[in-house]
Amino acid sequence: MASNWQRLGNRSELNAKIKCVQLGRKKVAFAELQGKVYAFDSLCPHVFGPMERSEVNGSILTCPLHGWRFDLAEGGREIHDYRGLKMYETKVEGEEIYVHLSE
Ligand code: FES
Repeated sequence: MASNWQRLGNRSELNAKIKCVQLGRKKVAFAELQGKVYAFDSLCPHVFGPMERSEVNGSILTCPLHGWRFDLAEGGREIHDYRGLKMYETKVEGEEIYVHLSE
């Protein structure tokens, strides 16, 4: 299977913010939290809340619509074990951030 790494952006763009990039049919959000870069679905698995508007606390994102909380350091697990947030593999080369998308 062909590798499908796509550029998300530059680390300096993040500045403690969550960013979104449209990659084909997917909108991927990404952030650097506690020194680690994470990429994840921009839509909450509950009813599609905008994850880029989440409140951030450590590695935990709180969805702005109904407050589901996802721990990115635990693979996007929802802290009450509701549906988890889809996460994607990332790599950083220099300052450039890449995401691996599989179909
Ligand atoms: S849409 Fe995210 S918690 Fe409801």
